Amino acid sequence: MQSNVRPENMERITTKSLADAFIAEQVEEIRRQVGDKKVLLALSGGVDSSVVAALLIKAIGKQLVCVHVNHGLMRKGESEQVIEVFRNQLDANLIYIDATDRFLDLLAGVEDPETKRKIIGGEFIKVFDEEARKLEGISFLAQGTIYPDILESDGVKAHHNVGGLPEEMNFELVEPVKLLFKDEVRVVGSALGLPDSMVYRQPFPGPGLGVRCTGAITRDRLHTLREADAILREEFDNAGLTSKVWQFFTVVPDFRSTGVRNGKRTFDWPVIIRAVNTVDAMTATVPEIDWAVLKKITDRILAEVPGAGRVLYDLSPKAPATIEWE
Ligand code: XMP
Repeated sequence: MQSNVRPENMERITTKSLADAFIAEQVEEIRRQVGDKKVLLALSGGVDSSVVAALLIKAIGKQLVCVHVNHGLMRKGESEQVIEVFRNQLDANLIYIDATDRFLDLLAGVEDPETKRKIIGGEFIKVFDEEARKLEGISFLAQGTIYPDILESDGVKAHHNVGGLPEEMNFELVEPVKLLFKDEVRVVGSALGLPDSMVYRQPFPGPGLGVRCTGAITRDRLHTLREADAILREEFDNAGLTSKVWQFFTVVPDFRSTGVRNGKRTFDWPVIIRAVNTVDAMTATVPEIDWAVLKKITDRILAEVPGAGRVLYDLSPKAPATIEWE
């Protein structure tokens, strides 16, 4: 098994040719480790698990079984993209589980943010475990562990990510990118032909939209949040801001405010836009967004998103505010 220490002389992967060399080396290594056995991977659609999936598909094709659990808290179009890229384009062995109802039923009425996180993380493991037990002949578990995970948390894949798996599963691990830093994983992902929208995906919390639909999640408010978020992303893209702003999203809090539409009183939710720039997420600043862009987003959300009655831009830096709202 590969050591968990990055050799001092290991060259930083910054170019396609360095990435190609890394890929060729890892393909050999994976084939040597796995032989003709089967490998299981929880594929979230995030950068790390997607790059690991693409590497393994190149190395062992259908011996890799990817499981994508949709917890119902994904952003608009995200699960569809996982299916499109991995099943349709890369011809992967992909099991897609829509567990939306399971998660949302469990979360109904739960207000406390930490309890919500625990429910989402715990249920994710349960769903994945149930699925893994149905499969036969799996010998290995692939993980998108990267070097910062090793440095920060004793080799456990991002402590707060949904994706921690039951230890009693007892599979041997395959962790082909565990000595790489995030920027290198992205270069490798591009060299493997993954789309930019996957490779340069901004950080998305494991509990997904669950921590942005504050308080007790309801299906209608979650729908408002998802649609508003999609408009924000589309308009940031149109304005050329996607690669300039580190992380941006919408939040829909669990209270309503008064409005008026067509002469009638309304009582709808506020949609809060959150956009931040940061280096390490420990502190963050709020970028000045062009007024015309904010106005266009506001107009579109109010016209197109059911349940949205106001749009606000959060001006709070971290600290004292955190990036997420809960
Ligand atoms: P905060 O809100 O603490 O966020 O300023 C810092 C960064 O961490 C992300 N974040 C999470 N990621 N699970 C995750 O995988 C979580 O529960 C979680 N909470 C916050 C957040 O999106 C930001 O990038």
